[in-house]
Amino acid sequence: MGNRIPDEIVDQVQKSADIVEVIGDYVQLKKQGRNYFGLCPFHGENTPSFSVSPDKQIFHCFGCGAGGNVFSFLRQMEGYSFTESVSHLADKYQIDFPDDITINTASRPDSSGEQKMAEAHELLKKFYHHLLMNTKEGQDALDYLLSRGFTKELIDEFEIGYALDSWDFMTKFLAKRGFKEELMEKAGLLIRREDGSGYFDRFRNRIIFPIHDHHGAVAAFSGRALGDQQPKYMNSPETPLFHKSKLLYNFHKARLQIRKQERAVLFEGFADVISAVSSGVKESIATMGTSLTEEHAKILRRNVEEIILCYDSDSAGYEATLKAVDLLMKKDCKVRVAIIPDGLDPDDYVKRYGGEKFKNDIINASVTVMAFKMQFFRKGKNLSDEGDRLAYIKSVLKEISALSGSLEQEVYLKQLAAEFSLSQESLAEQLAVFSKQNGPGQNNRETQTRRAHITTKARQKRLRPAHENAERLLLAHMLRDRGVIKKVLDRIGFEFNLDEHRALAAYLYALYEEGAELTPQNAMSKLQDDTISQLLSDILMLQINQELSEAELSDYVKKVLNHRKWSMIKEKEQERAEAERQKDFLTAASLAQEIITLNRSLK
Ligand code: UTP
Ligand code: MN
Repeated sequence: MGNRIPDEIVDQVQKSADIVEVIGDYVQLKKQGRNYFGLCPFHGENTPSFSVSPDKQIFHCFGCGAGGNVFSFLRQMEGYSFTESVSHLADKYQIDFPDDITINTASRPDSSGEQKMAEAHELLKKFYHHLLMNTKEGQDALDYLLSRGFTKELIDEFEIGYALDSWDFMTKFLAKRGFKEELMEKAGLLIRREDGSGYFDRFRNRIIFPIHDHHGAVAAFSGRALGDQQPKYMNSPETPLFHKSKLLYNFHKARLQIRKQERAVLFEGFADVISAVSSGVKESIATMGTSLTEEHAKILRRNVEEIILCYDSDSAGYEATLKAVDLLMKKDCKVRVAIIPDGLDPDDYVKRYGGEKFKNDIINASVTVMAFKMQFFRKGKNLSDEGDRLAYIKSVLKEISALSGSLEQEVYLKQLAAEFSLSQESLAEQLAVFSKQNGPGQNNRETQTRRAHITTKARQKRLRPAHENAERLLLAHMLRDRGVIKKVLDRIGFEFNLDEHRALAAYLYALYEEGAELTPQNAMSKLQDDTISQLLSDILMLQINQELSEAELSDYVKKVLNHRKWSMIKEKEQERAEAERQKDFLTAASLAQEIITLNRSLK
């Protein structure tokens, strides 16, 4: 058993892994020039300042400074150790990975027993599925599912199962396999008896839907009653594995499809997701019996811009849609709404009209948020009736007045005017009244976004003092040309002013002495310190000339060394003033001499 992965393997993995593809699994990237841009997964932002360079095989965020190579990305994103990220990528790119390497997971101590909890979930999932498919006890549940239109293939695909009608079957099953009861209670699988006399099964006589986390591990279960028992669905509670406010059902399978289709379809119920997937809408996901949270919205936006909401067509569904719209728009998503005809939920619709019709007439026929609201206001109204018509126009005008873009407002005004043969001017007048009532606060979202954008830009271009820039440019040239490393070593050595610059320089000197080939990948791969790899990725992103002239080099060197001298002069001047105050004129005089010499050398 060894702990060191041979360099050849690290190199081979590094050469095969494409950073754009690896990061692309987590962040939606758009090509811009030579690089790719997206929303940084390490800090909240609405404008993309996260860049990935395929040439250099590095990533860098101009907003928060995160940066590194594929390995450091996985380290920061997944909390992997170095060996873990290499083995993960070796797996992905089918590179032989020695069996005798101990994968170091020590970076994530399992103090809370999460590993065991996950194991128990995996085990139960298989067992529940077996009970449903192959046993007499599971027959009723299977019949129920089949009668609802779930096919056996679909049941297999979503690994649906059945929990026996027993108080302690799983309690015993788990105990026999060495799972501790307290831990299984923490995992949400068992419930502690109130009198403290032991534990019993949480899920009894229910159809079991495994809930996977975003990496595909089973994190929870939801059990549906076979009949009308309450609650209809019983879910795992919040546990160390299961956080409802962050988890989206089916996200682990949908992610790639979401990328491909460049849209995600969001449902309220997971029965809806299963039906949608069976209809070919594979980019389907759902919240877990909670309304959409800001965290959900963040995760979604990182992956895709367009979200189609497909909620139930009752008034609760309407309210939930509006809330989700607000939340998603705040994160700069483009939102559309797929409208299900009255009284049905998406799953009912598929069962009644078929998947083909669902995909074409509902999902692919999604409408803008405004059109959705207009359709809702029209519900139950008779538009040939004067009163109903006025009420309708009024509600629509109110909505239009809340829109932020004047162009958008005009489009809908025109549409409304045409629909009812009204003059656009009179509608605009009425609109002005509503706009005033809404007050100035309403249209601020756009300005806020713009402001946020400006601050990011400002931070990006933060004015650095000359010596700092000189050090950065020197480092950039050292990375481009090993000849420069030697020159800088001779002329500056370790006299860099900034600690992290000095550390990076020292690292490059070492690589130089080793005679290692200096590619960005190479430089990056040996670095395991996140601060230095962030700095490295930042420096690699600098735009520099291909050649470094002698004049330029001496200029940078002078700026670096002079700054050091300047700081020394300032220090000595303070010391001299102090010496004079203490009437120690001898020291003061000798300090003055040193200052003069330093000043001379500044030229
Ligand atoms: P619905 O009541 O719309 O269920 O709840 P559904 O998806 O149509 O299910 P079927 O078709 O009747 O089987 C939507 C979602 O709300 C959560 C579940 O996540 C469900 O998918 N929910 C619902 C609960 O958590 N508990 C409940 O008792 C009911
Ligand atoms: Mn339903």
